[in-house]
Amino acid sequence: MQAKTPEESKTILTDLVLPSETNPLNNLFGGELLARMDRAASIAARRHSRRIVVTASVNHVAFNKAVPLGSVVTVEAKVSRSFKSSMEIYIDVWVEDRESGQRSKANEAIYTFVAVDETGTPVNVPPIEPETELEKKRYEAALRRKQLSLVLAGKMKPGDATELKALFVES
Ligand SMILES: CC(C)(COP(=O)(O)OP(=O)(O)OC[C@H]1O[C@@H](n2cnc3c(N)ncnc32)[C@H](O)[C@@H]1OP(=O)(O)O)[C@@H](O)C(=O)NCCC(=O)NCCS
Repeated sequence: MQAKTPEESKTILTDLVLPSETNPLNNLFGGELLARMDRAASIAARRHSRRIVVTASVNHVAFNKAVPLGSVVTVEAKVSRSFKSSMEIYIDVWVEDRESGQRSKANEAIYTFVAVDETGTPVNVPPIEPETELEKKRYEAALRRKQLSLVLAGKMKPGDATELKALFVES
């Protein structure tokens, strides 16, 4: 299969925070942001694989900054690494200042999607070739994140998580 770049899967969703999407502090409800990130990640995974894709795991979410009612929120998703049938999607969330128009990073998340056929059976996806420094950094770290996710899900023995173990071994 022909390799693709992360840029080819780039997906940008921009939307407002409306009153029905907020918590009692008038900030964006966490579950609403998770849903927006899932949608953007799903489109990125589909653009990379051109197959049906399903969310296999939400590996990491950091709600670093509250997002107030009325904010313009941009969710940017890209495939950071593909494996056999699974893809890691890295998501950056930006909030736009109303007056200056400047964007600041509010949150980030990492999701895993799997490409499947019409019966739900996993199918192979194209390899990926990162281009920028950030894409290369995210690509490099993706294997240990996959191993951590599989260990936590009880699908891999900790002893087999070689990349993950290497993190804890002093050099
Ligand atoms: C995701 C799903 C297709 C995986 O099926 P499976 O029978 O576990 O298949 P496999 O064991 O062959 O795993 C397929 C791939 O997913 C990866 N995977 C499975 N669980 C994972 C997890 N928790 N974290 C990271 N990767 C995972 C495997 O490592 C494998 O990757 P690879 O092919 O790139 O090496 C299956 O569990 C499923 O359909 N889940 C429901 C998905 C869904 O409905 N999502 C929406 C939730 S409402």
